[in-house]
Amino acid sequence: MRLLQLERVSKAFGGVRAVSDVTFDVQAGELIGVMGPNGSGETTLFNLIAGGLAPDSGRIRFRGADVSGWAPHRVARSGIARTFQLVRPFMGMSARDNVLVGGLYGRERRHRATAAADADRLLARVGLDGKAHVRAAQLTLIDRKRLELARFPSRPARSWPCSGPTAPARRRSSSAWPVSCAPAGAPSAWRRSPR
Ligand SMILES: Nc1ncnc2c1ncn2[C@@H]1O[C@H](COP(=O)(O)OP(=O)(O)OP(=O)(O)O)[C@@H](O)[C@H]1O
Ligand SMILES: [Mg+2]
Repeated sequence: MRLLQLERVSKAFGGVRAVSDVTFDVQAGELIGVMGPNGSGETTLFNLIAGGLAPDSGRIRFRGADVSGWAPHRVARSGIARTFQLVRPFMGMSARDNVLVGGLYGRERRHRATAAADADRLLARVGLDGKAHVRAAQLTLIDRKRLELARFPSRPARSWPCSGPTAPARRRSSSAWPVSCAPAGAPSAWRRSPR
């Protein structure tokens, strides 16, 4: 099933064409990476998908709906969650509460105990088991990046754009292959098929 479709999406800041005519699609269960030199537009691309920015032209479709230019909260509720290149957890809150913020902001009302159990499961999955009560301010930078990864699946998401060092680069495998050879300076992509 085609989950996310980008059709000739472009975004410029004044004279800087940050994203130019980007077209690709993501199937359900597929893992896609976008890579490029510094400043080649990956973060802008993720901001366009997640609703932080509206495209100047082109279309972004998610599960068939045209979500181009939707506000971020509306995109999030439709099932797209994102991480950020610069992690900014709620520093005064515990790791578990940081994950709970994502888990309790959703379409369905959830019982806090269920959400807390899910949060602990997600923290364990990223290697933060035993640190649920530690405040984010006391975590190392690497652990904060792990926390960022635990926060985003706690939304009822179907698509997870990650940006910068929090992208799941370590999950790249020999079955990943480039799908586009973009001009110098533009991002390229790798793709792994659904298992
Ligand atoms: N809000 C903005 N206003 C003006 N120019 C911007 C804005 N956001 C990004 N740019 C410019 O657009 C281009 C792409 O930036 P972007 O941050 O998307 O690239 P990136 O590949 O994610 O960079 P990095 O390697 O730093 O993560 C850069 O030239 C940047 O200076
Ligand atoms: Mg970036």
